[in-house]
Amino acid sequence: MENSPALVDRFGRTVDYIRLSVTDRCDFRCVYCMAEDMTFVPRAEVLTLEELYRVGAAFAALGVKKIRLTGGEPLVRHNVMHLVEQLGAIESLRELVITTNGSQLDRYAEPLRAAGVRRINISLDSLDPDKFRRITRTGDLKQVLTGIDAARAAGFERIKINAVIMKGRNEEEILDLVDFALERGLDISFIEEMPLGLIDDHDRALTFCSSDEVREVISTRYQLTATTEQTGGPSRYWAVTGSDNRVGFISPHSHNFCHLCNRVRVTVEGRLLLCLGNEHSMDLRALLRDPAVDDAALQQAIITAMDLKPEKHHFDLDAETDIVRFMNTTGG
Ligand code: GTP
Ligand code: 5AD
Ligand code: SF4
Repeated sequence: MENSPALVDRFGRTVDYIRLSVTDRCDFRCVYCMAEDMTFVPRAEVLTLEELYRVGAAFAALGVKKIRLTGGEPLVRHNVMHLVEQLGAIESLRELVITTNGSQLDRYAEPLRAAGVRRINISLDSLDPDKFRRITRTGDLKQVLTGIDAARAAGFERIKINAVIMKGRNEEEILDLVDFALERGLDISFIEEMPLGLIDDHDRALTFCSSDEVREVISTRYQLTATTEQTGGPSRYWAVTGSDNRVGFISPHSHNFCHLCNRVRVTVEGRLLLCLGNEHSMDLRALLRDPAVDDAALQQAIITAMDLKPEKHHFDLDAETDIVRFMNTTGG
């Protein structure tokens, strides 16, 4: 087979992972992700499923091996399975994966698995129904737990729980969350909250809980050993003695991983965003909607955009906010 041209940025990093935001809508309103009252992107400005597929196929032709569907909540997008099936059929992809809040998995776990999704990441920040509701504002813990069970029954090769730990909100649940994951044969990653979007629920500098603090708590019950395992994402994984599962840490503040960055994002409006923590971007939607732009021209534009990828993010929890766009439009 012909070698796909690689996407390489000015710092020598090869991009082989894209995160596609398929919708900015969500049935939850997690306090770290959204404001209580959100305005969503008008439909005409959101990429159609056909446009999303064309973007995915263009990146795959340029050597991208991993596509992650995110949002908002990807599974609330009407007909999303059509896109999953189309992307799942792209032969050069190593994996098609999805990050979800779990609320729709009861219905979607099996079809996702059947469409070729082998790994799935599910957000779960609390095992206490009231705290879960307090963090997600609208979420129903029972529904998510049912979704997690459906994912386990569907036979995914790996399921990873994602938890954002915040002081005063869910820090006392760290060990319960690890127990929950390991008892069910799931991996779990703990994420440091990032200052994306102006939120009104809490002061991020006050609730910040570093990965090292979380790891210390886990070490009171489990023996952790650092590994070099990679999933192509930003998690640093630790093996747990006596378990086949692992505990990961995503630490954008305390252990910057920008030098290893292998990914770019496409926002729900078709903005190719070169870094989660910067605004450098290219408007792919304009190209997708220009009849004069064929697939070759689209691919060329993507290659050119790699020059815009910044070296690193500069998150600062004390500034009011660094980046005004919310996580849900950006693609988690
Ligand atoms: P795996 O394929 O399982 O490694 O997944 P992943 O960690 O790449 O994806 P997931 O959707 O589970 O993301 C978990 C967290 O990592 C989310 O909060 C993401 O926003 C964050 N994350 C992913 N990529 C980046 C990045 O490039 N920079 C920063 N700062 N955070 C990122
Ligand atoms: N900081 C860190 N993680 C966040 N997520 C959403 N918003 C933020 C934020 N501001 C997480 C969700 C989900 C993943 C896609 O991103 O919990 O697990
Ligand atoms: Fe929805 Fe995920 Fe944002 Fe929560 S973090 S509001 S589940 S998009």
